This record gives sequence, C-alpha cells and structure tokens, in this order.
Amino acid sequence: MRVTASLLVASCLSLLSVNSVQGFGILGHTLTGQVAQQFLTPETAKQVKEILSPYYDGLLSKAAPWPDMIKRQAKYRWTSVFHYVNTPGDDPPGVCQFEYLYSGKDVVNGLFNMTSQLQQYKAVEPSTPEDISIREDALRFFVHFMGDVHQPLHISGKLRGGNGAAAKWGRAKTNLHRVWDGQLILKDIKDRFDNNPKAYLDDMIDMTRGYWQPEAANWTYCDPAKNAADNPWSEHTKAITTLCPMEWAKEMNKLDCSIVWKDYDPLRDYSADYFEDATGPAHGYLVQKLIAMSGIRMAAILNQIYDPQAPLTEHGGFVVQDQESVLFESMRFVKQG
Ligand SMILES: *[C@@H]1O[C@H](CO)[C@@H](O)[C@H](O)[C@H]1NC(C)=O
Ligand SMILES: *[C@@H]1O[C@H](CO)[C@@H](O)[C@H](O)[C@H]1NC(C)=O
Repeated sequence: MRVTASLLVASCLSLLSVNSVQGFGILGHTLTGQVAQQFLTPETAKQVKEILSPYYDGLLSKAAPWPDMIKRQAKYRWTSVFHYVNTPGDDPPGVCQFEYLYSGKDVVNGLFNMTSQLQQYKAVEPSTPEDISIREDALRFFVHFMGDVHQPLHISGKLRGGNGAAAKWGRAKTNLHRVWDGQLILKDIKDRFDNNPKAYLDDMIDMTRGYWQPEAANWTYCDPAKNAADNPWSEHTKAITTLCPMEWAKEMNKLDCSIVWKDYDPLRDYSADYFEDATGPAHGYLVQKLIAMSGIRMAAILNQIYDPQAPLTEHGGFVVQDQESVLFESMRFVKQG
C-alpha cells in the first residue's frame, strides 16, 4: 500500500517537473485554458465543445498544449515558427524594441490567421471531415498561441528567446526560457499554494476580481487605432474588437527589459530573489498575472466569435460564469500532466 502511494506521488511529481521543461509548459498552457474556460459564456462553451474532439471534454485546458506536441511532425513542421516573434534591433535589458512588421511567420500572424479561420467557419459551417479537422486545429492553435504571446521570452529573439541563456535553478543548470516556461510557475504553486494547482488557479481568479482591478477589467480593451494591422485577414478579424496581438506583444516585450533579462547573470540562482521578484508582490504577482491575462483575453475573443450577443461589461470584459465542475475536471489534468 505504502509503496504504491509513494510511487504515485513520485510519478505525479516527475510529471510536474517534465511539464516545467516544455513550451510555456504544459502546466502554463493548461492554466491559461482553465482561466479562459471560467469566462466563457455557456453558449461559447457549448460550441467549443462541439468543435473539439470528444477526447477533450470541451476543455480548452486539455487542448492548449497540443501544438507543442505535434510541432516536430512533418505535417505540422510549418507551425513551429508561429510560437514566437523575433524582434529586429531588440536587445534586452538595454533595448526593448517591438515594431511589428508583417512576416506571415510569427505568433502575431498566427493569432490573426487562426482567429480569421474560426470566424470564417462560424459564418459557414464546415461540411467535409477535412474542414472539420482544420477547424479543430485552428482552435487548438489559437488557444496555444494566446498563451505563447503572453510569455515575454516568446517576444524577444535574443539568444533564441532565452533558450541559449544559461542560468542556475538552485544547484541545477537551466536556462532563462525554461525558468519562464515552467519553473517559476511550479515553484510558486509549491511554495505559496502547498503544491495545489487548484488553489493557485482559484487565487488567480480572485485576484482578477480584486487585487488586479480595475486594470483587469481593461485587459480585453483594444484601441482600434493601434490595432489597425497590416494583416491579410483583417477582413475577417476586424469584427473581433478584443483581438490585438501587436499591442500585447509590445507589452510583453517591455517586460523583457524591466524584469525578465534585467541583471542577467548565468551564475545567478533564479530560484531565489529573482523568483520572489517575478512571482511576488514586487511586480503585482506578475507570473500569475500573465496567465490570467492570457486566459481572459482568450475567452473574450471566443465569446465574440461564438456568442456575439453576450453582454460586454463597460470595459469590454465579459460577465464571469461559474463553472466549478468543469474546473475540477480540468485540474485533474494538470496533476496528471
Ligand atoms: C494560415 O494557416 C494555415 C493553416 O491553418 C496555413 O496553411 C497557412 O500557411 C497560414 N498562412 C499564413 C500566411 O501564415
Ligand atoms: C483602459 O485602457 C485605455 C486605453 O489604454 C485607457 O485609456 C483607459 O484609461 C483604461 N482604463 C482603465 C480603467 O484602466
């Protein structure tokens, strides 16, 4: 009995640490999907469930990590450049510069492309199995890219987005990208939430209603003037007034100078004061905040596509839905990886 229990604990822990070395990490992507799920209107949630294969149980959190799993397959190799955006002239922490130039091959373009596809399939329902599967891919990519665009190291090309920036985590070797993809999140859940990702998520939702207000109410606001994009999908995306990936990317890129790359030192232990800074009150619980922001913006866009009648709050946000049971279901997924 005891052996089984400790084996179980050990395998859960090792899955969690595997999470911490991939993508915005399986854990990070799952969390953004879970935040989003809470802000979907029932109508949007219903349509999302119809689009996704039954395996996903209608859960964005389960669909979110998929693009990292398949990006090395021949069929999907073209997608790997859509997870980030390179930034000519940018060299944090001294110079943070993000001037978007349409290239057709980055996360900003990926978000426009996928939103446009979802919008078009909403206008004209797909009728062939092939189109039905392209639509499911578009939703899975959309959810994933919404996570990636909120990871500051996906918005700076320096040293391959920090993958080439050696760092220490306690005594272990890591790199800056891995620190931001998962290690900060995982340690925050361990230290402040007794290793309970559900408590971490609940805290995030509470903070959007309290600590981060009124800023949070404004996360879904896009300035139409700044959002005029030189993108070939504007015909289909202009109705989605909450979609502004260029502005978000600019915001995230600034963080590369002010926090992420600040005082970079390959010998520094990133699990110490740097961790406190990135996850604690010094910067408004930044790591949690980026996940929450990503999820809330994701939900707002999906609501605009699938439930355009749903009321917007005065700042362009949506009324919070209570989906406690869906949440519990999806937390199981976090624990299992
Ligand atoms: C848009 O996405 C489709 C796949 O859904 C892809 O085939 C196409 O190359 C993309 N277009 C651009 C310009 O990124
Ligand atoms: C929301 O954002 C807009 C544009 O950035 C700004 O003008 C407005 O003051 C913001 N409102 C709040 C409540 O932060």
